[in-house]
Amino acid sequence: MSDRILVVDDEAVLRSNLVRFLDRTGHEVEGVASAEEALQRLDATDFAVVITDLKMPGMGGEALLRRVTAEHPETLVLVITAFASLESAIEALRHGAQDYLLKPLSLDEVTRKVDRLLDVRELEHRVARLRREVHQRFDTEGMVADSPSMQRVLELVRKAAGSRSSVLVEGESGTGKELVARALHDQSPWADRDFIAVNLAAQPRDLVDATLFGHEKGAFTGAARGRDGVFRAARGGTVFLDEISEMPPEVQVKLLRVLENREVLPLGADRPVPVDFRLVAATNKPLRAEVDAGRFREDLFFRVEILKVELPPLRERPDDIPALARRFLARHAEKQRRNPPRIGHKVMRRLQTYAWPGNVRELSNVIERAVLLCDGEWIETDDLPSDLSGTQPPPDVLDLKAAMAEFERRHIERVLAHCDGDKNLTAERLGVHLATLYRHMERLGLG
Ligand SMILES: Nc1ncnc2c1ncn2[C@@H]1O[C@H](COP(=O)(O)OP(=O)(O)OP(=O)(O)O)[C@@H](O)[C@H]1O
Ligand SMILES: [Mg+2]
Repeated sequence: MSDRILVVDDEAVLRSNLVRFLDRTGHEVEGVASAEEALQRLDATDFAVVITDLKMPGMGGEALLRRVTAEHPETLVLVITAFASLESAIEALRHGAQDYLLKPLSLDEVTRKVDRLLDVRELEHRVARLRREVHQRFDTEGMVADSPSMQRVLELVRKAAGSRSSVLVEGESGTGKELVARALHDQSPWADRDFIAVNLAAQPRDLVDATLFGHEKGAFTGAARGRDGVFRAARGGTVFLDEISEMPPEVQVKLLRVLENREVLPLGADRPVPVDFRLVAATNKPLRAEVDAGRFREDLFFRVEILKVELPPLRERPDDIPALARRFLARHAEKQRRNPPRIGHKVMRRLQTYAWPGNVRELSNVIERAVLLCDGEWIETDDLPSDLSGTQPPPDVLDLKAAMAEFERRHIERVLAHCDGDKNLTAERLGVHLATLYRHMERLGLG
């Protein structure tokens, strides 16, 4: 980022005095005598600040100001004007000038205003950079949703975002559950509050309690300081409990109480503390099945799953793959500082027919690797991992009839095993008569 200053004034004495002064105070500075020359210099190199007289023969300072704000929006403009024509300074401020200097110039004022502008510029740069970084990490607005099923997910997210009811996000690993949780927060009226994420699978068991509910100073050995816990720390924001199926049973009881009473009892405290938060939970194990298996409390399940967002696995929405692939190509190419390579039909078809057990995260990893391996302008099948590059051996049975018989045999065997060899039950499960089952078994050579 340049800190260079350009002084534009047709009055030679004023111009050279100003240039000399700014140079002496440690700035990199140039002077030109007209707006036209100024535009040439601006096209050639970056300037942080332009200081220009408003009244000049030819183009004039106001026209210059308009060109600078339109063509060099990063460059800040300071206008010089006589006290008698203060209105023109005000007009200039309206057209994008940052500030003005009055003639006769006070060098103190020049220093003060120039320094302030350079500070503002530096701050603006920092803010813009941070905003870019944050945006890249939590790019929820740019969430890819070309498929009808993801369109429905986004629609549901949009509707649910404003509600304080708990949301359960369910989906296989890597389907975008955290992205949805963040979208729910970002689109909510409390988006300016905190989004606090806790991964229950990654937490050491004996810390879960303190992380969630907090503790008082001295509540246990080593608790030199008190801790708020996520529900208190949220202060109106969102608490995201990732992998909620992994929550230990005794913690489930406590969470239920927090959801019912909207207050927490930190460890070692004698009175509960009111809390205000929106709960979003995620799981890659269907939570209902965890309830049925006795691993997750049913009463808590009902409190958590008031609204449910189900993320379909990537293999069920191949329509999303081209846009996702392009997004990841651009992202990983930028990270690797190269131009994004392109994907042709053949490779895209491979991507769209693969089963993606790791879902969107796996796609991102495959593309990252391909960008790294790809030498040319196009990604080749060789740049894909062997599962995808089509070098797997062909199936043992190629003939269609033989393949169907093979499938029938394996399927009947599986169902038989599932029913502990009970043929009556197996026939019922398969939806055929017992006699038919026997006939099939004989034909397929099953004992
Ligand atoms: N629809 C989408 N558009 C763009 N990027 C996506 C989309 N879905 C997922 N991603 C990206 O894929 C990666 C995995 O997503 P995320 O972490 O949200 O998945 P997850 O379901 O929480 O996975 P896990 O179960 O492993 O925790 C992230 O980098 C995320 O940005
Ligand atoms: Mg996740």
